[in-house]
Formats: sequence, C-alpha cells, structure tokens
Amino acid sequence: MHVVHTLAELREQLQPYRHPAVVPTMGNLHDGHISLVERAKPLGDVTVATIFVNRLQFAPNEDFDSYPRTLEADCDRLAAAGCDVVFAPKESELYAQPQTFKVHPPAALADILEGHFRPGFFTGVCTVVMKLLACTQARTAVFGKKDYQQLMVIRQMVQQFAMPVDIVGVETRRTAEGLAMSSRNGYLSESQREKALLLSATLRNIVSALRGGSTDVATLEAGAMNALQSAGWQPDYVAVCRQSDLQTPQTGDTLVVLAAARVGTTRLIDNMEV
Ligand code: PAJ
Repeated sequence: MHVVHTLAELREQLQPYRHPAVVPTMGNLHDGHISLVERAKPLGDVTVATIFVNRLQFAPNEDFDSYPRTLEADCDRLAAAGCDVVFAPKESELYAQPQTFKVHPPAALADILEGHFRPGFFTGVCTVVMKLLACTQARTAVFGKKDYQQLMVIRQMVQQFAMPVDIVGVETRRTAEGLAMSSRNGYLSESQREKALLLSATLRNIVSALRGGSTDVATLEAGAMNALQSAGWQPDYVAVCRQSDLQTPQTGDTLVVLAAARVGTTRLIDNMEV
C-alpha cells in the first residue's frame, strides 16, 4: 500500500489505472469505514482511501481541532483491508489557496435536518468531495448510509454536474448492542456509551411502529424526542421522512427515520430505513 501526501505523488501512483474506486474519510477509522473499503475493492482496478479532516465542514464551535487524527493506525487497518493507495494531504496541500470556489447544494435538500442544525455543513462536504473525486479521478466512490443525507446530497451533486462517478451506498455497521459505529463514539465515557444505545433503540421502536401500521408520524416523532430528553439527551431532531428526497412523507411513501442528539457534548446521528 502506498501512502501519499501530495497531489503529484497521488497522480503518479494512479497514472497506470483506469478505474479508481475511492473511499473518502476523515480518518480515525473503524469497522464501518473498513466495510466501505471492502465494498470498493471489487468495483475498481485500484482502491483508494482518502483521509482528510475537512475544516470547511466544521462550524467554529465544533470539534475540528479535537477531531481524532490517527494516521498510523488508520494506515495499518487500510493495508490489512487490501487498500492500494491512501491519499492523506495536509491542509496546505488540498487547500493551497483559500477554497473560494464552493459547491452550494440546494436548500430543499441541504438546509433541512443536519443542514438546519449545522449551517454550511453540506457546502463544506460537497466542496471537499467534489475536489477529492477530481484529485483521485474516481470512477466509483463509496459512502455510508450512516450519513444518509450526506449520501443523498452527494448523489445529486454528482448527477447534476454529470460527474463520471458511480456513487455506492453501504449499510451502517453497528456494535453488537446496536450503536452505529462512529469516530465520535470515542468521545463517550463508559456510562454515556451505555446511554447512547437509546438512540438506535428509539429508531428501532419507530420503525416497528410504522411497519405495524402506525400512521401518526407527528406523535411518534414527539414521543421519541421526549424519551431521549427524559433520559438526559439533548435531541436536535427525530424525523420520519420520505426516502426519496427526505421531505415530509405522504401516504404510501417509502420511509426513513433519522435522528441527531447530543449526549453530554458528543453529537451522534443515526437513521433506519423502514
Ligand atoms: P467520515 O465521518 O470519516 O466517514 C467516512 C465515510 O464512512 C462516510 O461515507 C460515512 O457515511 C461512512 N461511515 C461512517 N460510519 C459508518 C458506519 N457505522 N457504517 C458504515 N459507514 C460508515 O463522512 C465523512 O467522513 C466526511 O463528511 C467526508 C465524506 C469524508 C467528507 O469530508
């Protein structure tokens, strides 16, 4: 496996290949990330992981500075998973000049849910993903459904810009108890980790109520918000949405339930398709 830090080295490494399959990440890799690499492997003639903590998608009050940076351990895991090339640029390499050209996704998709609580987040994500796909000349790129709205925003960006990249979505990897794996789980204390199980349990309850024929979405959402609050969480949202565009569902729509909540200072997100 080759670990490269500059665009010039990346281009040199990828020069012989026609079909890079790329997994963009911010590092601190866990089994969820590794499952994306395993999925990417058969989809291209070279497997590339990118590791870059993207300042553009963090608000000033968020955890950019404290975000865990574990390059050596990440590379060990990627090598074991059969990754061929790791692109881990410094900020001064990827953003050599201030990134004044940006990709602004449409408000209807990007200012709701995560975008409502993290203004500018999806502009930061789209801008860096567009750039990473360009740097790697990706023909396939793999993303997790754990970040459901992110996957949808990226799919639509690639489609509207006619980028020659297939976007592949991978199911969320969970711990045995159901907690969605996340780099931010590392911020949780032992007792918070226990408490964190309530997020996936709440989503599972809503999914089974909806599968059981419940149609009162507003009551399910409010009940879930209350349950989280009573257990000491600070929920941002619990929302039942239409899968196709994350808008308010109509009768007969295929649904997904999405939630974001803070336990202590750690903000976790999760979702489940119905
Ligand atoms: P990061 O949070 O590192 O996640 C990288 C990829 O791993 C994303 O596609 C995410 O959805 C996926 N992922 C995270 N946890 C997962 C899990 N438990 N199961 C399956 N997949 C999981 O998402 C980002 O980085 C950034 O926004 C990025 C796209 C790299 C742009 O900076």
